[in-house]
Amino acid sequence: MDFKRIFDYARETDAVLIIQGDENSVDKTFFYITGVDGGLFEGSALIVKPEEVKIITSQLEEETARRTGLEVIVANGKSEFEKAIASNLSGLDSIGLNYSALTVSRYKDILRIIPDKEFIDVSQSIMESRRMKSEEELSRIREAAKIGSEAFENILDKLREGMTESEVAALIAFEMMKLGASEPSFSTIVAFGENASMPHYSPGNRKLKRNDFVLIDFGARYKRYCSDITRTVVFGRASEEQKEMYNVVFRAQDESMKAIRENVNGKDVDAIARKIIDGSKFKGRFIHSLGHGLGMDVHDHPALSSNYDFPLKENMVVTVEPGVYVPKVGGVRIEDDVIVKKDGFELITTATRDLLEIS
Ligand code: GLY
Ligand code: MN
Ligand code: MN
Repeated sequence: MDFKRIFDYARETDAVLIIQGDENSVDKTFFYITGVDGGLFEGSALIVKPEEVKIITSQLEEETARRTGLEVIVANGKSEFEKAIASNLSGLDSIGLNYSALTVSRYKDILRIIPDKEFIDVSQSIMESRRMKSEEELSRIREAAKIGSEAFENILDKLREGMTESEVAALIAFEMMKLGASEPSFSTIVAFGENASMPHYSPGNRKLKRNDFVLIDFGARYKRYCSDITRTVVFGRASEEQKEMYNVVFRAQDESMKAIRENVNGKDVDAIARKIIDGSKFKGRFIHSLGHGLGMDVHDHPALSSNYDFPLKENMVVTVEPGVYVPKVGGVRIEDDVIVKKDGFELITTATRDLLEIS
């Protein structure tokens, strides 16, 4: 990936040290910099300089690491690992660390291994670099969006009365993986009827009834990159109330999405959608931000939010996901993924946004 950009924002840094933790402290920057799309690399490290990257890892990940074409240093056990870090950073003064991904105990280890260095927090530089996607990253996200869109279309004729929310979540995971996803990009949300009023609902045993709203919020992970899509359909015939709710959200999404282009502020895009919903009978029922960046993290930078003052830039990828939520009644969310362009946007999620009535 275009890791050299990190140094555009951190010119005073001689090298960046990235330490990969276990599953509770994964630093996805490790995968961003190496582009490696397999392996866990727990307890591995990267020495990153503008002109080279070295991977320090154990035999367990050696073969995967070598496929990157980068220099690989095999270090088995704690003592070899620590010696490899110290020797590869000797003679350098200022070392960049990704403070936002380091645990306190790992930071203390670093202080012990290389006590004579000046440490610089480069987490902001990493974030700046990661939010503008390279062509390779864009093609992975496009594929994740295509897989998600096709998987959604494939499950529509499999919905049956009496099916549970969990069964529908399993169906969509199955379809996405059949189409090439490595896994769902997050825990799929499937909410029937009144359960759709909770934006972060977890699917359960509620059975599908005729004329229920079916809200599905899901995404595919493809070569580590995510898509994030929501569709709300009616299983049966839509009532006037359901159509009204859907149309307000649709209009909010359509109008706000059309405003996306380079240098437009994310909070202004959010305001377009919010004004439409707050001007309807669903005033106050749009209870989250309009969208967020998308990348290796489902919730990446930047946010499209009323409290995030930030101009969009070409090749950022963001979701546009307005919703209306009425407790005990239900809700509608429509979520699509777009690439910001100089003069507009590229919609990469292709599933229809029209209200579908599934019979
Ligand atoms: N799946 C959570 C979200 O759409 O942000
Ligand atoms: Mn989502
Ligand atoms: Mn989202």
